[in-house]
Amino acid sequence: MEIPITGCRTNHEELLKWIRENAELCKPDRVYICDGSQAEYDDICNQMVLSGTFIRLNEEKRPNSFLARSDPRDVARVESRTYVCSLNKTYVGPTNNWMHTHEMKDRLRVLYDGCMRGRTMYIIPFSMGPLGSHISHIGVQITDSPYVVVNMRIMTRMGRGPLEVLGERGSFVRCIHSVGAPLQPGQKDVPWPCNPDNTYITHFPHERSIYSFGSGYGGNALLGKKCFALRIASVMARDEGWLAEHMLILGAESPSGERTYVAGAFPSACGKTNFAMMVPPRGFEGWKVFTVGDDIAWIKADAEGNLRAINPEAGFFGVAPGTSMKSNPNAMLTLNKNCIFTNTALTDDGDVWWEGMTDQPPEHLIDWTGQDWTPGCGRPAAHPNARFTAPVTQCPTFDPEWDNPEGVPIKAFIFGGRISRNAPLVYQSFNWTHGVYIAATMGSEATAAAEESLPAMRRDPMAMLPFCGYNMASYWNHWLDIGRHLPDPPRIFRVNWFRRGKDGSFLWPGFGENMRVLNWIIDRVHGRGYGVESPVGYVPRLRDICWEGLDYDPQKFYELMSVDRDESVKEARDHEELFDLFYDRLPTEFLHLRELFKSRLWRSPEVWKLARETH
Ligand code: OXD
Ligand code: MN
Repeated sequence: MEIPITGCRTNHEELLKWIRENAELCKPDRVYICDGSQAEYDDICNQMVLSGTFIRLNEEKRPNSFLARSDPRDVARVESRTYVCSLNKTYVGPTNNWMHTHEMKDRLRVLYDGCMRGRTMYIIPFSMGPLGSHISHIGVQITDSPYVVVNMRIMTRMGRGPLEVLGERGSFVRCIHSVGAPLQPGQKDVPWPCNPDNTYITHFPHERSIYSFGSGYGGNALLGKKCFALRIASVMARDEGWLAEHMLILGAESPSGERTYVAGAFPSACGKTNFAMMVPPRGFEGWKVFTVGDDIAWIKADAEGNLRAINPEAGFFGVAPGTSMKSNPNAMLTLNKNCIFTNTALTDDGDVWWEGMTDQPPEHLIDWTGQDWTPGCGRPAAHPNARFTAPVTQCPTFDPEWDNPEGVPIKAFIFGGRISRNAPLVYQSFNWTHGVYIAATMGSEATAAAEESLPAMRRDPMAMLPFCGYNMASYWNHWLDIGRHLPDPPRIFRVNWFRRGKDGSFLWPGFGENMRVLNWIIDRVHGRGYGVESPVGYVPRLRDICWEGLDYDPQKFYELMSVDRDESVKEARDHEELFDLFYDRLPTEFLHLRELFKSRLWRSPEVWKLARETH
């Protein structure tokens, strides 16, 4: 017997057919199309409070907010279970897990058969990007997780609006998600159903579809984010001539009212959210930072050939531990109300806490696993990957341009990893092609550097290693091609906030002080700032950075900017190793640029003492 489709109505025949097919396969008890209303959100949250998935937080301290505790086996994105499927492996390249489309489909059919028994199948129509923008795209997610529904309502524009944009014939990305935990008649549910032994996060770029099974957590389950907005969208972008990037977007406005937008790519856990919500430091009074997004940017050229970006998301899904009024006051203020917290600790007065939130931990907490916790008990109170889900519009630095269907004009791309040695604070590429090279060879250290040991460098091209839905070398070629068609492409910079001195301590204070670097970048973009040619690119001298309000030792700056020849030759060799992986598709330009890099190094003094006043 056919299960009736309840909730929001649609006359989109193809959508209805797809829903029916999946209902037949997954066999839920009910099918419900979400309208995205506040009443629906409240209703589902209340149901989850009753079922034990959600704990309602103290209404006075944190109105309309909830805490969820996941199954301890389901706490993060699982790259080892993330696949891109196609008919041949070269399509996805050497850096993605691959399985033949037919083989994966066969496996999935078995897993999905009856996987939603005893549950509701929710249908979530959503728009990535402002409703109706020519840069936006529509997705529809099927899920059996009410937790996913309410998170998707914060993270995307969701419900009736996107359904109307879709009309009767609009195309949409198909996103199918199940926690993979069917209920037998009379079986009691658990607070966080999941199926860790059979988790698959799979992408089918050719048919623009995503199948996710077994996990209810973050990027595994909120399919608009990494799965659609990066892995599938990167393929759509390549096919259609735009860019889908793992980038924050911010605008910096000078006291004279000049606003400059930049997009920045940093690997996970390099402080992207902090940078996107930066508080200008002392000496930068009158400057304002405007946050458009903290994680993903979709970027397209307008009729004049200027790149314009939207944030496809509508919320922040940020890492909670380490976030404090000191490290990121704007994030903390964003979290005052209407938020979902996952795997943080619970205070005795019904609020949340995590490591780093306050200098002194509370005397007693319930930890993320639901156990009593006291300081010094030897366990973290919050899981290190505990998250908050919060609406973008609640951020004090929120930029109303976030909803501009035309996007914001991007003047610079900033790429940065976490590198303890030999990577200068900032440099600018010589041109677009060189910029693509320094972004493609970007690396980040896997662990924070201990004084003696050399941390392992993981190459993370454009911070897209886990997120590019096709062959990474084809992606580099796509970037090169984009630049060829722009009359005045954005300038490209590399930054590194994480360099350490000989004693192992950080050389750069970071956080708001990064504004000084951003200020030089903005000056360069507008043709005002000075940059000296060095083996790596153009660099600022000491006097080119604004130091007002900060007492910073010039010697430290020289150390921060120095480039060691032997180390850099090793670095060039590392690039070679990376390129060897992509021998069949590597842009030829990269081989020449690597040789140029090496010859610039050999012709320079042993340690290139950059940024000297003597220049
Ligand atoms: C994220 C990530 O959660 O990059 O944004 O892992
Ligand atoms: Mn990210």
